[in-house]
Amino acid sequence: MKKVILAYSGGLDTSCAVKWLQEQYGLDVICFSAFIGEVKDKTKIIRRAEAAGALKTLVVDLKEEFASEYIMPALWAHARYEGKYPLATALGRPLIAKWLVEVAEREGADYVAHGCTGKGNDQVRLEVGIRSLNPDLKIIAPLREWEFKTREEEIEYAKERKIPIDVTKKSIYSIDKNIWGIAIEAGILENPMLEPPEEAYVMTKAYDKTPKNPRYLEIGFEKGVPVRLDGKRMPLVAMIEKLNEIAGEYGVGRFDMIENRLVGIKSREVYEAPAADVLLKAHEELEGFVMDREFLHYKRVLSEKYSELVYFGLWFTPLKEALDSFFASNQSRVTGKVRIKLDRGHALCVGRESKFALYHEKLATYSEGDIFDRKAATGFMKIWGLPYEGMYQKQRGRKA
Ligand code: ARG
Repeated sequence: MKKVILAYSGGLDTSCAVKWLQEQYGLDVICFSAFIGEVKDKTKIIRRAEAAGALKTLVVDLKEEFASEYIMPALWAHARYEGKYPLATALGRPLIAKWLVEVAEREGADYVAHGCTGKGNDQVRLEVGIRSLNPDLKIIAPLREWEFKTREEEIEYAKERKIPIDVTKKSIYSIDKNIWGIAIEAGILENPMLEPPEEAYVMTKAYDKTPKNPRYLEIGFEKGVPVRLDGKRMPLVAMIEKLNEIAGEYGVGRFDMIENRLVGIKSREVYEAPAADVLLKAHEELEGFVMDREFLHYKRVLSEKYSELVYFGLWFTPLKEALDSFFASNQSRVTGKVRIKLDRGHALCVGRESKFALYHEKLATYSEGDIFDRKAATGFMKIWGLPYEGMYQKQRGRKA
């Protein structure tokens, strides 16, 4: 029998998909589950997949690869889609696409399948990713094809075929979580004027439940990589997880936005990304301290473009790779530390230090010790303003 590798989450959709792929396509189903932040029970996932009829189930912990190969480049790029969303879900998809392709090649499968719906961005990210890496693989998206109109029909299908599911636990929201953040959609969030209810949030405390006193953090960077938290060296994944916990406690990293999906829809999305918000702010701050104005201003334009590429599913593309090289090019200077103050839903940078700092107190000061050559300013302005001299003279004359 021909084989399909199914990206399996253990939920209702992908559990039904196991059976459905066997029935509709006559395929042997190999389930593939990746851990990139959700705390899941490995044996439960395997048991479920097998009960649904999987030939084999692979569960792999990809947190480290996710952090070093996907989160780090996005951190260096200061990637936030439409200026807000730090792209947690969007960054996870190319990693899953890459693994689906690898597993399919290893297992000699002709097909890969996933549980994305036909309205979202995730289907694009997975399918474009898979096709860039191996265009010979055939892709099946059961949720775009099958006949279930409602969740109830799907549950009925699962019951008839004895597919184990826990229906009661299903949240009213559609949730996708990894260590870089969580996306929460659907339910009453679809009303754009209604404030998201507190129970919708998973990783962050409500502002009025956050500690009364602020907390200070010191984040140490070496060549662009955050390596120390409050002086203690720690691996990237541990640092991200710790920051999610601490900054989440202070209600940091909530975003409520109307975003422009690639498929043309405007949708209301709620995100939580405590660690991402802190690390992005800290990195931006330190880079701003050690790099020059031209570089920094131009980088903002590229960051915007990069965020779009990631969001649009164009991870495995030449422009994305070229931009990665650009963002990597100056990281050797991004060494030093940043002080962050967590206070009632906010993370504020309140201090920075680096041996590569381009900030010189003697140039900046308005007090004693000033070495700035004020006399030189006169000539500078004459020449800087030269192209515009008199340009608006006539216009002013007419108005008068
Ligand atoms: N709108 C976000 C994005 O496109 C989040 C998608 C979340 N996916 C989910 N299955 N809830 O990246």
